[in-house]
Amino acid sequence: MKNVIAQHQNWIDATWEKVDKKLSRTAVKSREKIPYTTVNGEHDNRVGKGITWWTNGFWGGMMWLMYEATGNEEYRKTAERSEELLDDALRQYKALHHDVGFMWHLTSGANYRLTGNEASAVRNFFAATTLFSRYNIDGDFIRAWNGEAQAGYSIIDCLMNIPLLYWATDEIGDDRFKKIAMRHMEMAMRDHIRPDGSVNHIVNHEVDKVGVQNILGGQGYDETSCWSRGLAWAVYGSVLSYIHAGKEEYLEAAKKTADYFIEHCKKTDYLPVVDFTAPETPVYYDSTAGVCTACGLLEIAKYVSEEEAKYYTEEAINILKACDEHFCNYEEDEDALVLMGTERYPHTEAGRRGLHIPIIYGDFFFVEALCKLKGREFLIW
Ligand code: GLY
Repeated sequence: MKNVIAQHQNWIDATWEKVDKKLSRTAVKSREKIPYTTVNGEHDNRVGKGITWWTNGFWGGMMWLMYEATGNEEYRKTAERSEELLDDALRQYKALHHDVGFMWHLTSGANYRLTGNEASAVRNFFAATTLFSRYNIDGDFIRAWNGEAQAGYSIIDCLMNIPLLYWATDEIGDDRFKKIAMRHMEMAMRDHIRPDGSVNHIVNHEVDKVGVQNILGGQGYDETSCWSRGLAWAVYGSVLSYIHAGKEEYLEAAKKTADYFIEHCKKTDYLPVVDFTAPETPVYYDSTAGVCTACGLLEIAKYVSEEEAKYYTEEAINILKACDEHFCNYEEDEDALVLMGTERYPHTEAGRRGLHIPIIYGDFFFVEALCKLKGREFLIW
């Protein structure tokens, strides 16, 4: 893995320099914001409107990654401010959902692990117990969203939230958090990950016994297709469960989903489309699926044979280089770093509004992947 990375060191260092230059500016400029996308090049702001939105931890999380890697206090100040701004969401318990992992483990969880701040640990425990309470004992899954009609829904994305539960067990020694995370991971291997390595986005379970009522297409093309960001969540989420729980089957799930991602992403020169099995035209890209998967591949590479490690590392770098060349913006007149993210398959007018836009987690995962390539060992998940 190290040899492969060394071959690309010039690109890694040059890209890192551009990223640090850009983010050290936006960290100060957008300190009072929690951005999701940009409008005419300016970060928008979720503070005061939609504070319980699932992506609100990525900005703060990215600031912690940059602080950890550079020691620049401006990043730390923005990360801490972002955590304070997010406190308003803690007061809206009924509006919370399973994405409390994305929201707090990347902000308060990172703060606590990097600085030992006890108030941040308390916030993260609150998030962990919220996620824990969403486990349906009879149906054996963590419920994604609220509302009667969605009582049976689990979504593949949740594999990225459950590291919060592993953390809670590690921190207080109560293994029930970890057990629920493992139950959910094993449900995902059974009900979300298909035999060929593609994934179901939404599974609608029975709520009073173990069983699947039906599968929904969710943000992908349809219920039989493969939404690429959902697959990215499976790749990275599965290897994270392997890292935290150590079961070999989880690493196998990560490799199986990773192999499917790579095989399909290659067909469009490593620029992932929104859905890998949707009609080939029109072509709709989603940069975020690629950068998240690249992070997963770089973690998988640490736990496999030398030959496989070389393969996964090279493929991660192919994805990141394609993203850098086609989707990244390093200019000052645009606050976002990674362009061309897509919220969902654009079947509808609402879907088309979220087509080919910058989305904050695109920036986050591009930065996280570069941190890994720079040899930073801090695993924020
Ligand atoms: N977690 C929702 C999404 O990936 O858009």
